Amino acid sequence: MPEPVVIEGAGEMQARARELARTGKSIGFVPTMGALHAGHMSLIERARRENDVVVVSIYVNPSQFGPDEDYSRYPRPFEADKALCAAAGVDYIFAPKTLYAEDVRTWVTVGGLEDKLEGLSRPGHFRGVATVVTKLLSIVRPDRAYFGRKDAQQLLIIQVLTRDLDLGCQIVPCETAREPDGLAMSSRNSYLTPSERRQALAIHRALEYCRTQVKLGELDAMKLLGGMGDILSQQPDLEVDYIAIVDADTLEDLRAVQGDVLVAIAAKVGKTRLIDNIRFEEVA
Ligand code: PAF
Repeated sequence: MPEPVVIEGAGEMQARARELARTGKSIGFVPTMGALHAGHMSLIERARRENDVVVVSIYVNPSQFGPDEDYSRYPRPFEADKALCAAAGVDYIFAPKTLYAEDVRTWVTVGGLEDKLEGLSRPGHFRGVATVVTKLLSIVRPDRAYFGRKDAQQLLIIQVLTRDLDLGCQIVPCETAREPDGLAMSSRNSYLTPSERRQALAIHRALEYCRTQVKLGELDAMKLLGGMGDILSQQPDLEVDYIAIVDADTLEDLRAVQGDVLVAIAAKVGKTRLIDNIRFEEVA
């Protein structure tokens, strides 16, 4: 496989994207913060199948990290990421040093969705995500951009901003990639000690408990939340941030699993914050 072309400049990336569009090539885009794992690779493989050209961005976006979060220690294995991209047939890696002018004054916020679930625990996080994704989509100008369902709130916010700002790009949601035992893949899993790794699996177990209960006919949100809470509380190093049963479009709390429903968990295992979710569509 030929090496991907690495582009650092936003202007150069934009010019290349324009040129590709002029020659009628479709662009599939996978935005990442690097530390690529099998989850990212499944997005890249799908982008490869569905487009003429694949662009992967690698940029640890400072504006989506809070002051006490892991921005400085976030893994940055660029050479390993590049090798994975080469093996997957990626054409371009967009790896800007920064995407923000020192006096940046323009931020993108998506009303009504940013101050719920993740947004409550990570104030400003989604403003950072929405802004960087808007910038990346404006620079790369893809036909399709691929996002994992593990970050369900991020996916929803990006779908809404792409529609509201007429960015002309199709957002393609992709299933959460999981380890063989069910743990959702995440670059942050690499922070877990073996004991934390075992305890983290309770998040998946709690969600699967919920899935089974709903199949058996239990739709009451309080009962389901209680059962999931019991499973999580058995882990000594796991601290629940939230367990939520919400409308998948508005993220408003629900009393019952009815309609299009997102069941989401965020928890700290040791010092590592993990999220996962399942979705029910149109349960009567
Ligand atoms: O999901 C991520 O890795 C990031 O939030 C994204 C979409 C690349 C924006 O920085």
